[in-house]
Amino acid sequence: MSVVIVVGAQWGDEGKGKVVDLFTERADLVVRYGGGANAGHTLVIDGKKLVTHLVPSGVCHPGKSCVLGDGMVIEPHTLLEEIAQCQARGLLSRGELLIGLGAHVILPYHKLIDALREDRGAKTGRALGTTRRGIGPAYEAKAARRGVRVRDLARPARLRELVAANLDELSPLIDHLGGTHPSQAEVDRWVDDALAAGRALAPHTGDAGRHVARAIASGLHVLFEGAQGCLLDLDHGTYPYVTSSSTIAAGACQSAGIGPTAIDAVVGITKAYATRVGAGPFPTELHGEAGERLRKAGGEYGATTGRPRRCGWLDLPALRMGARLSGMTSLALTKLDVLAGLPEVSVCVAYQVDGQELDEPPTDPDDIARAEPVFTSFPGWGTLPSTARDVADLPGPARAYVETIERLAGVSFCLVSVGPDRNETIRLHDPFAAPR
Ligand code: GDP
Ligand code: IMO
Ligand code: MG
Repeated sequence: MSVVIVVGAQWGDEGKGKVVDLFTERADLVVRYGGGANAGHTLVIDGKKLVTHLVPSGVCHPGKSCVLGDGMVIEPHTLLEEIAQCQARGLLSRGELLIGLGAHVILPYHKLIDALREDRGAKTGRALGTTRRGIGPAYEAKAARRGVRVRDLARPARLRELVAANLDELSPLIDHLGGTHPSQAEVDRWVDDALAAGRALAPHTGDAGRHVARAIASGLHVLFEGAQGCLLDLDHGTYPYVTSSSTIAAGACQSAGIGPTAIDAVVGITKAYATRVGAGPFPTELHGEAGERLRKAGGEYGATTGRPRRCGWLDLPALRMGARLSGMTSLALTKLDVLAGLPEVSVCVAYQVDGQELDEPPTDPDDIARAEPVFTSFPGWGTLPSTARDVADLPGPARAYVETIERLAGVSFCLVSVGPDRNETIRLHDPFAAPR
């Protein structure tokens, strides 16, 4: 087993950063494959926290190659800040970083359009609750074949021309959204800043696709790091309340330019409950005090925007859908400790829609929004030792919860996380080892 994809199984923030950091022990390359700085992946190592937005979460393992795939949308200044932050910790000092020349670049006008749409949406009740990082507008430009790519940052005349053409097209949209047009001096500064960032990033850029393909061909261990989660996938998620990229496992192949036959294992990450940031259907959402309790206990505030995350019970129909979409071969269960102290823990085992019981969400998001969750309750557990390193170390009710979830999800667990720190983990199966 040499090629493993890690993917969020819910609506993002499942703990991918922690799990990718752990699995990097066994990897030679870690490849971020989609999205941009809408992601916030948290690593806690010996009590020290690092949040990555663009740099792969394998960064804390010196000498391992960290690749940003061509399917990403990269805000160059955010990336430079992140590189500096890592270098200040003594990381990325051995030329580990490779940025795909084909990745797209997020420029200030993408963020402007994103923010204008969200502001307008807030007034009309139709906001998506995006991260305002310019993700949607950058992917729109890519699909319209007007995008700026990392390679364009080394071509001043072409970059100026592309930016001018894009702004020309966006001008009526800025008017429509009630925005202020940037002055020519501002646009010139945007281009100059992008070129300067391009020069700073140039030593790290290259042919990411070929680098990954060669590594796979030579039998190296390659770990793909997904961003967001399966339910936020552009094609298969709760559209239109999704992000603008392919967040499922297939996105790894598309972003890196490798065939699906190269993939050996897909690990989905799920919390022991559920969260969602931004708008969109969330059938198991807990309102009021119950939701607040989970938010507090789990520290459920966005790693990128600081927004409070919506919290609810684990949603097995949604998890099954994620597992199906990504072909998950195993699951990592995170944040089991957060449920400790509750008198009772519930899990949604099915949805009721129009008197019909469904074990996966209906295809129409409007139907998901009106679905009635069917809950099963479990006795709670008082405390959960963060020193647990084996399922046998868990209190009986927590063990029963884990075993039942595994059975009902239909995918076995490779890991159970009992705290944010790298060490606070029960390891059950190494995804790079032969299947059980
Ligand atoms: P990601 O986007 O999937 O990488 O997840 P985030 O970093 O946005 O959010 C997950 C949060 O949960 C972070 O603050 C992690 O440090 C934290 N975390 C991860 N695993 C655990 C766990 O098992 N228990 C607790 N209490 N926190 C965890
Ligand atoms: P990680 O990788 C949670 C959500 C936003 C919004 C929707 C669209 O940390 O799990 P966008 O800015 O992408 O256009 O926003 O997607 N979203 C995330 N939610 N975790 C993320 O990333 C997310 N990235 C985007 O909140 O609902
Ligand atoms: Mg996150």
